[in-house]
Amino acid sequence: MHINGKAYRTIWFENNIAKIIDQTKLPHQLIIKDLKTVKDAINAIKAMEVRGAPLIGATAAYGLVLSIIEKNDQSFLKKSSEELINSRPTAINLKWAVDRMMQKLSGVNSDQILKIALEEAKAIVEEDVSFCKNIGLNGLKIIEEISKKKKDTVNILTHCNAGWLATIDWGTATSPIYHAHQKGIKVHVWVDETRPRNQGANLTSYELNEEGIPNTIIADNTGGILMQRGQVDMCIVGTDRTLANGDVCNKIGTYLKALAAKDNNVPFYVALPSSTIDWNIKNAKDIPIEERNSEELSHIDGINKKGEVEKVLIYPKKSKAMNLAFDITPAKYVTKLITEKGICDASKESLEKLFK
Ligand code: MRU
Repeated sequence: MHINGKAYRTIWFENNIAKIIDQTKLPHQLIIKDLKTVKDAINAIKAMEVRGAPLIGATAAYGLVLSIIEKNDQSFLKKSSEELINSRPTAINLKWAVDRMMQKLSGVNSDQILKIALEEAKAIVEEDVSFCKNIGLNGLKIIEEISKKKKDTVNILTHCNAGWLATIDWGTATSPIYHAHQKGIKVHVWVDETRPRNQGANLTSYELNEEGIPNTIIADNTGGILMQRGQVDMCIVGTDRTLANGDVCNKIGTYLKALAAKDNNVPFYVALPSSTIDWNIKNAKDIPIEERNSEELSHIDGINKKGEVEKVLIYPKKSKAMNLAFDITPAKYVTKLITEKGICDASKESLEKLFK
């Protein structure tokens, strides 16, 4: 998708360097950062310079390529793979991408390993682009139907950033929106600010602006009253891990939005590539939920009077804060899952029918 009219992807590889858009600097500064070592890749994931489930998977894949460039040695590669998997705990794509790379590289000669690693990392990236495009084409049908019935602008609420900045291109939750817009369907997006890191305000609204899609940022607590007033036609969110039974683990606050949607008969869709399905964990209670530094709550970045980015404290100095990064929306609150292979119920039967 575009920034200032120029087409970008969130990550690309050239001259033995992985290039990323540093998302901690958006929306105020567009900075392209070089990842030259596997440590750089691990730090970029931890610091959320790259974030979003599919993008951290792709970064981990390139991280392994960087590890081989640095030191073509099996035990270093194994250590790198473990550190990459542990860099963030909740999004399954990270482990999925590392496992896929390691499987491909197992038993490969050291003179071939770099070439094969690079090919596989690129395959992961290209596959994500095509999955996200197909999610968009499948989800487009839902928006088209609402638009035909309503004969007016379709109001869509989304939470966090499951946009192209969270993937390689297109996004998951935003892909149907981009496709609808490109087809001339009138859409307007309610963008949940998504405290504490404000991925909705800083990233989703930013990328929608750059594509010319009307959107309005709302505080995270506003969705409920908008639904009661009939101002939301549908919700679409992304997911960091979807269990085989259809339970969805996504950015903190997703569950509350799903409850409000249920109470107001607003359809609640979850968009996902199959790389986000965890076929192993049976009980959502076993999903590792990331707890991040409470400074993300107590401090906020903004532009000061001199036009510089500044971090300020917004809480009482003595207060404690707690920062859980994800929650779980039980399958019963999910209207449908939108995947690259089609739209299905949030249930084991339907997911298995599509993917197994
Ligand atoms: O903590 P983040 O910013 O990595 O969380 C991102 C989300 O919760 C997204 O909704 C999710 O990764 C889906 S991305 C297509």
